[in-house]
Amino acid sequence: MNINSAEFRFSSSKLSQIPDDGMPEFAFIGRSNVGKSSLINMLTGHGSLAKVSGTPGKTRLINHFLINGSWYLVDLPGYGYARASKSAVKEFSGIIKNYITKAKKMHFLFVLIDSRHAPMKIDLDFMNMLGMEGIPFGIVFTKCDKQSPRQTKTNIDVYRKTLGQWWEEMPPMFATSSEKRQGREEILSFVEECLNR
Ligand code: GTP
Ligand code: MG
Repeated sequence: MNINSAEFRFSSSKLSQIPDDGMPEFAFIGRSNVGKSSLINMLTGHGSLAKVSGTPGKTRLINHFLINGSWYLVDLPGYGYARASKSAVKEFSGIIKNYITKAKKMHFLFVLIDSRHAPMKIDLDFMNMLGMEGIPFGIVFTKCDKQSPRQTKTNIDVYRKTLGQWWEEMPPMFATSSEKRQGREEILSFVEECLNR
């Protein structure tokens, strides 16, 4: 899929603020600092559509970007970042859970995972929750340029093994680097397939 236009549309702090114009939504989520904003900019080809930050936890609202005038790319707040207070974490996870379980137009959720790290409880808990809620999702491994392709493959295999403890079927997985524009075609083709279904 070619990205001909990408425009920021609105920020919301709760589900009820999101205008229901019937367009399909593809959302992106992950721990703070995982590279969500960078990935969104890389996918859309806009250097600064989403704000890349040195301060974890910058994206605190649900941001909607209209792509090609026909679907929304949705940037969700990061879950579980270290610097937020406990009550803030709770509040955000409320917003997130409300959105992902109730947004009628959310077609698919991309969960971002830093490709360098061993599986973390917070991510596994989150994905198990998605599984229980029946939310369609895939895993985007980020920052693959920071290690060898071989190491990335090894780490992804560990993920498969870990998830295999609970699940028979694996979610779609994408190895990406925003620096190297790796994984862009794969993710955009996947979205296109979902849209044509
Ligand atoms: P919050 O919105 O604060 O939760 O963070 P985020 O998940 O949006 O992460 P962001 O895109 O702001 O990136 C965090 C840091 O990682 C920045 O310093 C980025 O430059 C860096 N980064 C993101 N993606 C990549 C990547 O693919 N490769 C490399 N080398 N660095 C990356
Ligand atoms: Mg961000």
